[in-house]
Amino acid sequence: MTAAFIPDYSHPDRNRRVLLTGRPVGIPQPEHFALDECDLEPVGEGQFRVRNIYLSVDPAQRGWSNEAANYSAAVPLGSVMRALAVGVIVETRNEEFAVGQYVYGWFGWQDYAVVGPDALMTRIGEVAAPLSAYAGVLGMNGLTAYLALTKVGRPVEGNTVLVTTAAGAVGSLAGQLAKQAGCRVVGLTGDDEKVARCTGRFGFDAAANYKSGDLDDIVAALVPDGTDVYYDNVGGPILDTVIRTMNVGGRIVQCGTASIANWIPVPSGLRNEREVLMRRLQWGGFVIFDHMADFPAALEYLAPLVADGTLVHDEDIATGFDGAPGAIARLYAGENVGKSLIFVG
Ligand SMILES: NC(=O)c1ccc[n+]([C@@H]2O[C@H](COP(=O)([O-])OP(=O)(O)OC[C@H]3O[C@@H](n4cnc5c(N)ncnc54)[C@H](OP(=O)(O)O)[C@@H]3O)[C@@H](O)[C@H]2O)c1
Repeated sequence: MTAAFIPDYSHPDRNRRVLLTGRPVGIPQPEHFALDECDLEPVGEGQFRVRNIYLSVDPAQRGWSNEAANYSAAVPLGSVMRALAVGVIVETRNEEFAVGQYVYGWFGWQDYAVVGPDALMTRIGEVAAPLSAYAGVLGMNGLTAYLALTKVGRPVEGNTVLVTTAAGAVGSLAGQLAKQAGCRVVGLTGDDEKVARCTGRFGFDAAANYKSGDLDDIVAALVPDGTDVYYDNVGGPILDTVIRTMNVGGRIVQCGTASIANWIPVPSGLRNEREVLMRRLQWGGFVIFDHMADFPAALEYLAPLVADGTLVHDEDIATGFDGAPGAIARLYAGENVGKSLIFVG
C-alpha cells in the first residue's frame, strides 16, 4: 500500500543518530549514549531507505547493550543503538518494496536506516490503527503478550492468572487477553495510580502495589485460591513469592527479568527447584523473535480487538532525540505510562 502520510523533514540529507558509547553494567544511563549526525549512506541493490517515525524504547535494550548473558550479541560500542521502529520507505532498490510502504523492524535509534527485507518484523498492510500502534499493541508488545500467554501460559477458563508489570505495555495486554480467555486476572505493579488503571481501565479483577507492604501478604491476598498461570516479567523476589502460591500443574511464563538489577555477577538466591517439582510446574522461557512465523496469525487475532476498542492500550510518546539517552532508565524507574515511544518525525 502507499503511505498517506510521508513526513516532511527539515534535514532530508542528514541522519541524526543515538550511538551506544559506553558499556553499561546493569541499566543503561544517559552517559552510555551520544547524539550524533552524519550524511546519508547510499542504498545498495536489494535494499531500501526507511525514514523512521516512531522509535521504540524497550526493556530489552538493556540486554542488547550489555555483555551479560543474553540471546543476541551486544551492540558494538560506537554503533547506532539497536531498536525497533516504525517508518516509511522513502527510497528503494528492491522492487518488492515501494516508496510509501510503512514498515516495522530493526531500524535503530536514528532518522534513516538503509536495510533489506531481513530487517523487517512486519510489513504494515492496511493501516487500521494509528501508526504508533504498530510499534506497541500491534508490534513486539502485543505479539509477546499474545504468543507468550497462549504458547507458554496456556490459560483455560476459570484459571487464576497473575501478571507482573501489570500496567505496562506487555503486562496490560497479557492481562486483558487472559481475561478474554475467561480467567480471573490479577496484577502486580509499582504504584497506586497504576493499580487503579489495572482494575479500572484494563479490567483486572484485582491488582496491588508490590512496594506497599509485605510481599507474601500482598500476593496471598491477590490469589486466595492459588495461581495457575504466572506471567512473569520481573523475576527476583516477586517470582520467589509467587512460585509458592502456584497450584499443581501451573505454568510460569518467563517473559522478562526487570527486577534483576544486574546480571554480572550471575545472580544467586533462593532455590526454587523443589517448588517446581512438588507443584509439577512448567516453567517456560519466551523470546518473541523465535516466533516470527506466528506473527501474521497473531496480528489477525489482535488487530480487530484493537480496532473495535476491546483491547485497551496506552502510549507514552516523547518527541525528538534529546530524551533518548535517558529513555531506558526512565522505563526501569517505572515512569512510563504505557508503551514508550519516541516520535522523530
Ligand atoms: N521475552 C520477550 O520476548 C519480551 C518481549 C517484550 C517485552 N518483554 C519483557 O516484558 C516486560 C515488560 O516490557 P514492556 O515493554 O511492557 O515495558 P513496561 O512494562 O511498559 O515498562 C517496564 C516496567 O517494568 C517495571 N519495573 C521496572 N523495574 C522493576 C523492578 N525492579 N521490579 C518490578 N518491576 C519493575 C516498571 O513497572 P512498575 O511501575 O509496575 O514496577 C516499568 O514501568 C519486560 O521485562 C520486558 O523485558 C519480553
